[in-house]
Amino acid sequence: MPLIDIIAGARPNFMKIAPIIRALQTRQKSGSQLLFRLVHTGQHYDQKMSGDFFDQLDIPAPDINLNVGSGTQSEQTAAIMINYEKLLFKRISDLCLVVGDVNSTMACAITAKKMKIRVAHVEAGIRSGDWSMPEEINRLVTDAITDWFFTTSEIANTKLRNGGVEKERIFFVGNTMIDTLLRNQNRFQPPKFWEDIGLKSKEYFVLTLHRPANVDQSDFFAALMKSIGEGADNHLVVFPAHPRTRNSLKDFCLLPSNFRLVDPQPYLEFNYLVKNAKAVITDSGGITEEATVLGVPCLTLRDSTERPETVSIGTNELIGTSPANLKSALDRVLAGQWKKGKIPKKWDGLTGNRIVDELERLLV
Ligand code: UD1
Repeated sequence: MPLIDIIAGARPNFMKIAPIIRALQTRQKSGSQLLFRLVHTGQHYDQKMSGDFFDQLDIPAPDINLNVGSGTQSEQTAAIMINYEKLLFKRISDLCLVVGDVNSTMACAITAKKMKIRVAHVEAGIRSGDWSMPEEINRLVTDAITDWFFTTSEIANTKLRNGGVEKERIFFVGNTMIDTLLRNQNRFQPPKFWEDIGLKSKEYFVLTLHRPANVDQSDFFAALMKSIGEGADNHLVVFPAHPRTRNSLKDFCLLPSNFRLVDPQPYLEFNYLVKNAKAVITDSGGITEEATVLGVPCLTLRDSTERPETVSIGTNELIGTSPANLKSALDRVLAGQWKKGKIPKKWDGLTGNRIVDELERLLV
């Protein structure tokens, strides 16, 4: 019976694997031959960055944890490769299924491929064109050795085709992250601090920042927060800070007075905050997709995106980081002049099933 390794390592992976695992479990109950083992690399390890997501999204406990922890890009990548290779020596699998673009994605794909195991990449073919982002390197390397490409958009299909990938290896299935969003949206719940800090629906902003380019240099980071604080006028800015961001914040005495710094939020609380926000301000990629589906204005503090359909179809706009651009974008939000947006094709909650349909066909 074919064994699939499902790889997850960092926070944005967890919502992407949940629907695939659920679809596999459902098929197994009706006699499917497909087996899987869930491999957590340990890239993220805190309860708030990992455990909460397993609990809230009903993801089964990992079968194996490679426990790699933090390190430089190379240390982390190397540790994942070494530990995953050891696992494969103990028991080989038939397919390595990776999602997204984190270090765990690339590291496990390389290890599997060198051990002659096929690689399937979920969220394949997306490109920002910005080679200064570690995620872009991870996407390029992973797709260079992927056998089966599961894509979220027609733009990704075209990019892969233009790069020479045969159409028989590309499966346009939609977006597993959106499967998770749609499945859980009735369960979104206010965070504990909702009343304490006096949040009111559609009267505050949510901010997330964790890209090294935005948070690693304290002068730049301070100026960025000042622009956001001023642009938000008298509205609160709720800022769930990633550990990297929290670390950089140690260098600051004062945040803008309308900022409310909080811990990284569990899935149901974070998306409650997003759904009820006036707008989201972010340097994440995945959040731009969720904001698009929730119909919430999204200001991306980057100059490029690997998810262009969130801009051309959805509610996202690339603002960059200049104070003038930020101010004029926030003015448009405050004046109620933001575009409405639509939902991209096949972001319909059924992607996990489509992926498992293809896996059945390809592997059994
Ligand atoms: C990683 C991904 C990024 C993703 C982000 C989501 C890569 C290259 N980057 O970036 O694409 O958007 O996750 O969060 O894979 N730390 C903790 N606890 C944890 C995990 C990390 O305290 O559970 C701290 C450590 O100090 C660590 C730092 O956060 O050094 C950064 O973690 P790391 O996994 O290296 O990268 P992220 O910035 O989280």
